[in-house]
Amino acid sequence: MIHFRKISAYLLLAGILPCSNIFAQSTPSLDVNLNKIGHEVSPMLYGLMTEEINYAYDGGIYAEIIRNRSFQDDRNNPVHWSLFSEKQGSTIKLDHKTFLNSNNPVSLMLDVSASGKVTGIANEGYWGVPVRPNTVYKGFFYAKADFDGDHEFNVSITGDSADPTTVYATASVKHTGTDWNKYSFELITKQGIKPTTNARFVISTVQKGNYWFSVTSLFPPTFGNTPNGNRPDIMQLLSDMNPAFLRLPGGNYLEGGNFSSRYDWKKTLGPLEDRPGHMGTWGYRSSDGMGLLEYLRWCEDLNMEPLLAVFAGYTLGGDHLSGPYLQPFIDDALEEIEYIIGDVNTKWGAQRAKDGHPKAFPLRYIEIGNEDFFDRSGSYKERFAQFYKAIKAKYPQMTIISTAGKDFDVPGGTADMIDDHYYRNASEMEGMTTQYDDYDRNGPKVIVGEWATREGSPTPNFNAALGDAAWLTGLERNSDVVLMSCYAPLFVNVNPGGMQWKSDLIGYNALNSYGSPSYYVQKMFSNHLGDKYIPIHAESIPTQFETLNEKDIASGRKPRKIPAMFYVATKDSKKKLLYLKLVNTQNKAQKINININGTEQILPTATLVELSADYPEATNSIKAPTNIVPVKSEIKVNGNQFSRVLPAYSIAVLVLKIK
Ligand code: AHR
Repeated sequence: MIHFRKISAYLLLAGILPCSNIFAQSTPSLDVNLNKIGHEVSPMLYGLMTEEINYAYDGGIYAEIIRNRSFQDDRNNPVHWSLFSEKQGSTIKLDHKTFLNSNNPVSLMLDVSASGKVTGIANEGYWGVPVRPNTVYKGFFYAKADFDGDHEFNVSITGDSADPTTVYATASVKHTGTDWNKYSFELITKQGIKPTTNARFVISTVQKGNYWFSVTSLFPPTFGNTPNGNRPDIMQLLSDMNPAFLRLPGGNYLEGGNFSSRYDWKKTLGPLEDRPGHMGTWGYRSSDGMGLLEYLRWCEDLNMEPLLAVFAGYTLGGDHLSGPYLQPFIDDALEEIEYIIGDVNTKWGAQRAKDGHPKAFPLRYIEIGNEDFFDRSGSYKERFAQFYKAIKAKYPQMTIISTAGKDFDVPGGTADMIDDHYYRNASEMEGMTTQYDDYDRNGPKVIVGEWATREGSPTPNFNAALGDAAWLTGLERNSDVVLMSCYAPLFVNVNPGGMQWKSDLIGYNALNSYGSPSYYVQKMFSNHLGDKYIPIHAESIPTQFETLNEKDIASGRKPRKIPAMFYVATKDSKKKLLYLKLVNTQNKAQKINININGTEQILPTATLVELSADYPEATNSIKAPTNIVPVKSEIKVNGNQFSRVLPAYSIAVLVLKIK
């Protein structure tokens, strides 16, 4: 995209564009009306949205190392597996006739042609196996052989195909007999190893014979050491965002391309070897290792409430069900809710206990479907009402969220909340910050359940962060109606082929992860949110021309002026803090005058958290993960009236102490 901000600067320097077209003349002033406390700020405003996209779970937060662990990713080939062999003549292939169970109806057959040489199967992981020093890896595999008696497998983490002789960790596993058995093991890497992803996981033998392998798993240490858990580095990034909720399990991933590829929560429960997995919506298969219980544990670990989206009888392929045909899916949703909140005497509460979590989870928000405005059949009105009535009849305490429209044939006439989605460029986000200023205060409340400024790839750049920050000032100002918001997508595996949707909040490879500038905006805004909105009267706010998107350019539309500075204030009544958020999208520093009105005094020592960049396209990456990070400093303010200079391209949170 050609950047208008840059062009404006050049034209200005060249004397082509009159200064008054870009910047207001006088110093902007903000009158922060601490004497006029505004509405309550929603404590649920900042949350997370998640789905299996961009290798978000498999190859992402879900710490499983083995890729294609049940050999079902491709019907014909054991993709991501290879023969590990010094001996010509040995082979591997998929065997659809020999398998562990009906949920895993295929195995990997290894034919070892002669004894004495090391031969085996190797897994390449999700773009490599993460090797760290002094680390315990726990794993298991199912195997059987065509000969009776004892024998030994060797399991190891070795160098990749370019470096097959390096062994990072190794262990022996005693194997016996011709029946399927589960073999568990631990691998411990040595001190002093340089972390690398150039590694493979290998199961090998030196004995001639035929061997079959089924579900195979390997985990590094997880967050909180939870079995089948999440990557600690990514969980820490999320925890630092202080999210209030997790919207799950999608997104398009909930809907599926057709009925059989919808998110079928019952198939995601129980031991890994009983989970069939399914074809996801974003071009690859999901292991469903991140099942419903894992989502809920993730919420528990980060003290978030789940926001559960239930499959609503509509698929991305455009099929829908209604009337009596919808009833099984409504029953399914009711059972899903019971799995989450039912006590152990209920059928599905008992199942949750059996799965290892007797304690019920909190649940207040249920969303019916995802983006049903795409359903051109007009069936959503009927489908929503059916779900709404059935859920409210059993669980009247639930807040029911619509994904398309607000008026329905339900008691009260409207959904309890509506879910709005916005994916825009920075200029559009900055031009839309007043979106909810005139929203009907008596209408349903809003969750902005997916939104992002989409500039930068794979993760957003600083210009996107500016758009995000501007947009969020509008959401905080309207947090009496916008009760919840969550950026999407949350994750991207930055390896080639890992991304299906560009501009994702957090990027990673098998070993490392990083936050984009947009991530830091979320973190800064979420961690500095008061309980009361404080109105601001602003004067002389500078403006600049918007950057048009390609469609607007093609339509011949002329660029409009939009603000070039954004602001919002909230007060934390308990901590007696005033949070003033300030965004300067201009390519020049901007002086502002700030007056804090009211009887309360502002103490002279304040904290400034500032995020800035030299140019809009500046960004973070897996190689430069902390290029742009917030800088915290102590500053002095001169009582209730003071001036600040906002650097060019900057986002600031000023934390002022109230006496
Ligand atoms: O966030 C990516 C996709 O955008 C989601 O799956 C879908 O809900 C939206 O269209």
